[in-house]
Amino acid sequence: MSSKWWQKAVIYQIYPRSFQDSNNDGIGDLQGIIQRLDYLAFLGVDALWLSPVYSSPNDDNGYDISDYQAIGPEYGTMADMDCLIKEAESRKIKIIMDLVVNHTSDEHIWFQEALKSKDNPYHDFYVWRKPVAGGPPNGLKSNFGGSSWTYVPHLDEYYLHLHSKKQPDLNWENPKMKQAIWDMMNFWLEKGIGGFRLDVIDLIGKEPDHEITQNGPKLHDLLQEMNHKTFGNYDVVTVGETWGATPEIAELYSSPDRDELSMVFQFEHINLDKQPGKRKWDLKELNPYELHEVFSKWQIKLDQKGWNSLFWNNHDLPRIISRWGDDSDEYREISGKMLAIYLHFMKGTPYIYQGEELGMINYPVKEIQEVDDLESIQMYNERLKQGYPIDDLITSINAKGRDNARHPMQWDTQLNAGFSAEKPWLPVHSNYRTVNAAAALADENSLFYTYKQLITLRKQFDVITNGEYQIVETNNPLVLAYQRFDDEEELTVVVNFSKTVQKYKVAQTLAEHEILIHNCPERPEQWHQLAPYEAYAVRRSN
Ligand code: GLC
Ligand code: CA
Repeated sequence: MSSKWWQKAVIYQIYPRSFQDSNNDGIGDLQGIIQRLDYLAFLGVDALWLSPVYSSPNDDNGYDISDYQAIGPEYGTMADMDCLIKEAESRKIKIIMDLVVNHTSDEHIWFQEALKSKDNPYHDFYVWRKPVAGGPPNGLKSNFGGSSWTYVPHLDEYYLHLHSKKQPDLNWENPKMKQAIWDMMNFWLEKGIGGFRLDVIDLIGKEPDHEITQNGPKLHDLLQEMNHKTFGNYDVVTVGETWGATPEIAELYSSPDRDELSMVFQFEHINLDKQPGKRKWDLKELNPYELHEVFSKWQIKLDQKGWNSLFWNNHDLPRIISRWGDDSDEYREISGKMLAIYLHFMKGTPYIYQGEELGMINYPVKEIQEVDDLESIQMYNERLKQGYPIDDLITSINAKGRDNARHPMQWDTQLNAGFSAEKPWLPVHSNYRTVNAAAALADENSLFYTYKQLITLRKQFDVITNGEYQIVETNNPLVLAYQRFDDEEELTVVVNFSKTVQKYKVAQTLAEHEILIHNCPERPEQWHQLAPYEAYAVRRSN
């Protein structure tokens, strides 16, 4: 079966601010990424998605862009960017840029002009409304909390911001604005980048007057137009961040004959440890079988119709081992391997977030002063006023706060984990002396090599990319299992999603199958019992 390159690819996400600092100002940068390309090539990834490196006042760490066609000075120069694209290419690695076009920074020249007067040609690049009864036009809330409308007295108008008030939303009804964005996208495509990750793209079809934000009526027309004007003319990957996607919606985005995107990031699994209908801060324990059902639903419903991504982590999410594995010394690595094995035999394009391959874990804080992330801070202030106990707020931040993913990458045992010789913008986790890339590379049983092996297996066995999917019953809701199969072969994946020994029973006899990967030193001799977090995948020819 023929596949697109990105269907066989494994993509690695870099949060540049925290990856590698080359000039010791405490902030990661493009030259730092270049220094680490050999490491990434050795891991075996095909492309790097960079969180934003454009000019930005960094209210939301780069997701508030003030110039799309300039590199932020803290990250380097456009020449560094060109060098990164070239150096990566020589290692067969593509660079995927983060495209943040639902909003700009309020410091973008377009918004600065828009503020000058209602007749300014840029005014209509943004979404403005008159006050209603002396207050905001309606009750629309920002994703970070609070109203999504901010009043500008000298214009007697409110502007819309679905994120912070320093992130005004662009007006996707304005043809000139659209053309300016397409030109900007073509500027990057002409540089030879490998694609775009489209930030909160499901918001661009919004209808604020009807309080519709996600999945607005014009969303898919806008994406088809964008595709035809820009990336549709190149062999690149596009992945949309689509919090509100169901499998049916994901098909609209990613069906090959609709000319929209290559694939989506959907978040249904990510929402399973929050209370239904509440915010991510309102914690609930994960039910592993529910997770299995959600993954399986997506595997089956999108099959042959669209394309999904596979991920546990990103720069907005807590570290997966702390979240659904076990970050104690005893189980950190083995639970990390289990999570990796469970995910990486599924259909879709896997994403690895920096440090995931090392088993990096959450960074607990004691008080709000240690927090950088504006989303956590806004939630804290809002809920404090509403009378929540401080301890509960800190518990939520430690469980879900975005800083967890943003502490510096742990390279070696040197000062600041080899990230920087100076004080990093966020501190390094205290476990860096044992959890670091140098130690992982030196130990052939480390989690790093599990990821490397999973990438190799994906290249080796076409059934992982193209095969069908089926749940395997195990008679134990904590032992999750599935098969991938085609005419030639069949893979079976079995994992113990718990910290205790589990018995299980499958109809198939697996004992004679070839073991592809297994996270325990001994062969799984008793094929009916698993050690804590034990996981394996086996294969046989059909
Ligand atoms: C996306 C990004 C997040 C950012 C937000 C606003 O969700 O992943 O980091 O804060 O969009 O741009
Ligand atoms: Ca730097």
